[in-house]
Amino acid sequence: MEKFVVTGGKPLFGEVNISGAKNAAVAIIPAVILCDEPCQIENIPNISDVALISRILQQMGANVRRINKSSLYIDPTHIKIYNAVTDLVRGMRASYYLLGALLGRFGKAKVALPGGCNFGVRPIDQHLKGFEAMGAATRLVDGAIIEAECETELQGTHIYLDVVSVGATMNIMLAASKAKGLTIIENAAKEPHIVDLANFLNSMGADIRGAGTDVIKIRGVGYLHGVTYSIIPDQIEAGTYMCAAAATRGCITVKNITPKHLESITAKLREMGVKITEYDEAIKVDASLNPLKRCNIKTMPHPGFPTDCQPQFAALLMSIPGTSIVNENVWDNRYQYVSELIRMGAHISVEGRLAIIEGGTPLTAAPVKATDLRAGAAMIIAALEIKGTTEISSIQYIERGYEDVVEKLKSLGADIKKVYFTGDNEEELRA
Ligand code: EPU
Repeated sequence: MEKFVVTGGKPLFGEVNISGAKNAAVAIIPAVILCDEPCQIENIPNISDVALISRILQQMGANVRRINKSSLYIDPTHIKIYNAVTDLVRGMRASYYLLGALLGRFGKAKVALPGGCNFGVRPIDQHLKGFEAMGAATRLVDGAIIEAECETELQGTHIYLDVVSVGATMNIMLAASKAKGLTIIENAAKEPHIVDLANFLNSMGADIRGAGTDVIKIRGVGYLHGVTYSIIPDQIEAGTYMCAAAATRGCITVKNITPKHLESITAKLREMGVKITEYDEAIKVDASLNPLKRCNIKTMPHPGFPTDCQPQFAALLMSIPGTSIVNENVWDNRYQYVSELIRMGAHISVEGRLAIIEGGTPLTAAPVKATDLRAGAAMIIAALEIKGTTEISSIQYIERGYEDVVEKLKSLGADIKKVYFTGDNEEELRA
């Protein structure tokens, strides 16, 4: 069993480099299936979700080679099958992008239902509605596999999404890139990784306009050529380090980022009294100057405050005196982590979509677990606030999305290590 052991109470200082965006990478890698030539993808984060989706493509016949820590060479031309029904596929949420990519390439797809972080029901009805509107018949087989198939070829059409869905927007873009005619997605999601996927597809010769607005127009093309493409920086990883700096009342510079993607996060930190200085590709976060003030947060699709930073900000707000209210407006059940923060002395009550945080209560170290990826990030932030030593278990969730989190935090002065437990109370430290 592996754990993170964190001794907190020290402000973070220094500089940290942000990796490529997880949620762009896990869409762009399967998007290569649509390409008629090999591609090279750069600024790929070195995280377990990327390793998983790369192995899935390999299982399907693609030649996937790591050129260096952050670059992948992918030759999809030898993929002959449209089946992706393996435990690896079930192991990650983003495997649903295989549906759009395989449908776009073969006109049919058979993909195991996706797994991933568990925070309530995670339907994919809007993805399927889009594929059906384009002429594919979809069916759920044995409650575990989605089959989609069109009789001749996918046809462009109008699709109105009933909910603003990142996954459905990207999946429909994938399928539509090689469909016949024009597909229009209305009420589309606008996250930076949607623009990144569109830019990647366009660089291969696709014809996609409007990504980043709520109407996206995709005119299908017959051939996509190979490219070298660099993925955008991870706004959520950046937001997590910014939040950690504020929570420890430290001062750090977050580098290799796009400040525009972080506007909702910087706005909230400024509201709390954190001094933010923006540069072209970096942001300085200084929480060492003034006492921080409580604030309320409401998660919304982009450009609203991102749900993927909600748990981290709850961990920050529990250190600030006063009542802060968090309103989770994207997911039904993203508060499993609250019971873990309560073990550390937090006063938080959850009422439906609201978490009411009475901040500034004394906090003490306690064994806690990462209930999902961002919940795990919140545990690290909480542990960094507390003077004692906190053990965090289930860290495999954290490693799904954060590259070199131990090394990056150490470089900012944090006392954090990864510990391997090899038997009863026996520890062996290798990292
Ligand atoms: N929804 C539906 N039907 C659908 C699709 C979504 O009702 O067909 C609902 C969901 O239940 C949810 C809302 O719409 O209430 C938004 O879901 P969305 O489809 O946007 O989420 P997703 O694409 O499955 C991605 C990220 C998540 C992130 C959300 C929201 C990936 C692989 N995952 O999920 O990231 O929380 O968008 O921004 O891109 C994370 O990185 O920790 C993470 C969970």
